[in-house]
Amino acid sequence: MGKNVIKFVCGECGYESGKWLGRCPACNSWNTLQEERIDNKPRITGELKGRAVALSHIENERVERFSTGIGELDRVLGGGIVPGSLILLGGDPGIGKSTLLLQVADHIAGKGEKVLYLSGEESFKQIRLRSLRLGINNENIYLLNEQNIDFLGDFVQKIKPRLVIIDSIQTVYSGNLSSIPGSVSQLKECTARITELAKASDISVFLVGHVTKEGAIAGPKILEHMVDVVVYFEGEKNFAFRLLRGIKNRFGATDELGILEMTGQGLLEVKDPSQYFLDTEAKNVSGTAVAVSFEGSRPFLIEMQALVASSLPPYVRRMAFGIEQNRLALLIAVLEKRRGILLTNCDVYLKVTGGLFLKDPAVDLAVIGAVFSSYKDKPLPSDMVFIGEVGLSGKIRQVPFIDARLKEAEKMGYKKAVIPAGLSFKPGFDPRMEIIQVGMLDEFIEVLMEGWG
Ligand code: TYD
Ligand code: MG
Repeated sequence: MGKNVIKFVCGECGYESGKWLGRCPACNSWNTLQEERIDNKPRITGELKGRAVALSHIENERVERFSTGIGELDRVLGGGIVPGSLILLGGDPGIGKSTLLLQVADHIAGKGEKVLYLSGEESFKQIRLRSLRLGINNENIYLLNEQNIDFLGDFVQKIKPRLVIIDSIQTVYSGNLSSIPGSVSQLKECTARITELAKASDISVFLVGHVTKEGAIAGPKILEHMVDVVVYFEGEKNFAFRLLRGIKNRFGATDELGILEMTGQGLLEVKDPSQYFLDTEAKNVSGTAVAVSFEGSRPFLIEMQALVASSLPPYVRRMAFGIEQNRLALLIAVLEKRRGILLTNCDVYLKVTGGLFLKDPAVDLAVIGAVFSSYKDKPLPSDMVFIGEVGLSGKIRQVPFIDARLKEAEKMGYKKAVIPAGLSFKPGFDPRMEIIQVGMLDEFIEVLMEGWG
């Protein structure tokens, strides 16, 4: 018989230590080591259960996915839910995770399949209130208030659901361990148990996970490694729209972005995202430029707002909301060096509308356009979009999917586009917009200055 061992595990990164420490040596966070008791069970001997099979002998099975009923969620999942898969849905409290999953439950229940909804956070009454608000009243949705995961298998046997929702993974526990729900070993154990159950009975499972203030799903990264798909649900509380962002997907691409809107009747799909990120009121004011950003598999138009205000060194500020701070600093440096525009006596603020965070470098040109427009205090043409990456040398670099970006801009009624020089369009694509090609930052600034006469 092995003996029970006590160890200390960091709640942030999963680092293990034999003794308690005030600060985790791996991730440097304070006071995160928790005591965990490991029951060392002897290795089981007996009949061999696993098997090794030649790859070529495995039947070629097509993955049959089923829809969540919410197109934007299906998009992020790679086309729907794969049977037997574990999906982790992370997000801040109050962002709408329970609402989203109740809507998914309703869709699947509407198809005549059963859904088991384990709620460790809210009472039946609270969920009932939400369901009434959403107009959801399906007898195929079963609520469960058993937080001990050891019994989940029994309920699955009895109800035979197609989908199980665990809201949230931080509130369930297994009786095998003495540590509290939400501790690292409980999260690992429960997720492992749920995975076993899902794979054995081919049911799909959504796990809700809370996000810590640092923006990671509470508990170690290990949880993300254990599931098949990780989706983050994000948004600003004071904006109505919400973003679904794929972080990991064993069955599809991870760079997809789903956009939903929180309304009085729950979450609705946003079919035309461009409309959301354009501030139509702000036409003809200096400091705004429209970019065409590519997120996942589709382009959308989004407005950059810059404010350049005089300041006194050494207190000048550079603040970016929605792109990386360093990228703003870099673009300002390029503008200073390549064009001799000195912003050393200026604060520069940059904001992407709608609380989105953009990684697509193709928005560089719009950032520079917005900053320059604010610096000159002259508005850019309101029917113009800006597409291009800006290199350190001041070269305007080419970007992928130019055709799709221009089509989106055309669709939204824009008449002119500034794009990198030397781009060729796919045969058959003939933009109706006026296309202005710029090779270097200098040329770009000239184009803007000409417009101002
Ligand atoms: P909820 O799904 O409880 O969030 P989470 O599970 O992520 O903590 O949703 C919380 C918010 O959504 C709450 O503040 C109320 C709002 N809400 C709506 O605006 N419309 C609706 O139809 C519903 C059900 C909720
Ligand atoms: Mg909830």
